Amino acid sequence: MLIPNTSRTFIHWQDSDPPPVWSEIFGNDNSLALEIGCGVGDFIVQKAVLHPELNFIALDFYNKGCIKTCKRIDKSGLTNIRVFRAEARTFINACIPAESLKMTIINCPDPWPKLRHRKRRLVNTDFVEYLSSYMMHGADFYFATDFVDYGLDVADFMTTQKGFENQLAPDAFRHHLEGYPVSKYMRRFLDLGQPIYYVHYRKI
Ligand SMILES: C[S@@+](CC[C@H](N)C(=O)[O-])C[C@H]1O[C@@H](n2cnc3c(N)ncnc32)[C@H](O)[C@@H]1O
Repeated sequence: MLIPNTSRTFIHWQDSDPPPVWSEIFGNDNSLALEIGCGVGDFIVQKAVLHPELNFIALDFYNKGCIKTCKRIDKSGLTNIRVFRAEARTFINACIPAESLKMTIINCPDPWPKLRHRKRRLVNTDFVEYLSSYMMHGADFYFATDFVDYGLDVADFMTTQKGFENQLAPDAFRHHLEGYPVSKYMRRFLDLGQPIYYVHYRKI
C-alpha cells in the first residue's frame, strides 16, 4: 500500500485522467520545465529558485521520492513546482502539450550497468527525438550522469542529433557546469572523487 501524499504541491494524476490545465495548476502562463526522475527533489528546489520565471514539473514514479520532494518544496515556500508520480513517457504523452517545454532535465537516470540491460536505458536517440517534439524552440536539454559509458554515449550521439545545438562546444561534455545545482546522487559520487558527465544542448 502506498503512503498517501497529502502535500498541496503533489498533483494526483492517473493514466486515465484528463491532462492537467497548466495555467490553472500554477496560476500563471509561464513556460514549463520538466525534471524526469526528480528523486528526493533536492535538485529541482535549487533550480526553481534560480528560475522563478518557469513552472517546474517534478516527475518520478518512486512514491517515497515524491513525498520527500514535496516536503522540500513545502519547506522552501516555492510556488513554481508541482510533483507528479508517473512514468515519464506515459506522463509526457498524456500531459505535456507539443512544443511547450522550455527546459528538460535528466539527472543520473538509472544506469542499467549490465551490458544486456543497456537497451532499457531511458535516454537514447529515439527518446531525445521524441522529447524534442515537446520542447519549444530555444529550450534547454540537460543530461547528467555519474556513469562513464552512459555519459560518453549521450555526449556522442547528441553531436549528430538533428535540431539541437551543443551549448558546451567545443566540448561534447564537461565535468563541471557553472551554476548547475548538485543532486543527491551527484553529491554521492562527487564525494567519492568520481566525476559527473554533463551534457547541455539547446533546441534550434
Ligand atoms: C538514480 S535516481 C536519480 C535521482 C535524482 N535525479 C538525483 O540525481 O538525485 C533515478 C530516479 O529516476 C526515477 N525514474 C527512472 N526511470 C523513470 C521513468 N521512466 N519515469 C519516472 N521516473 C523514473 C527513479 O524512480 C529514480 O528516483
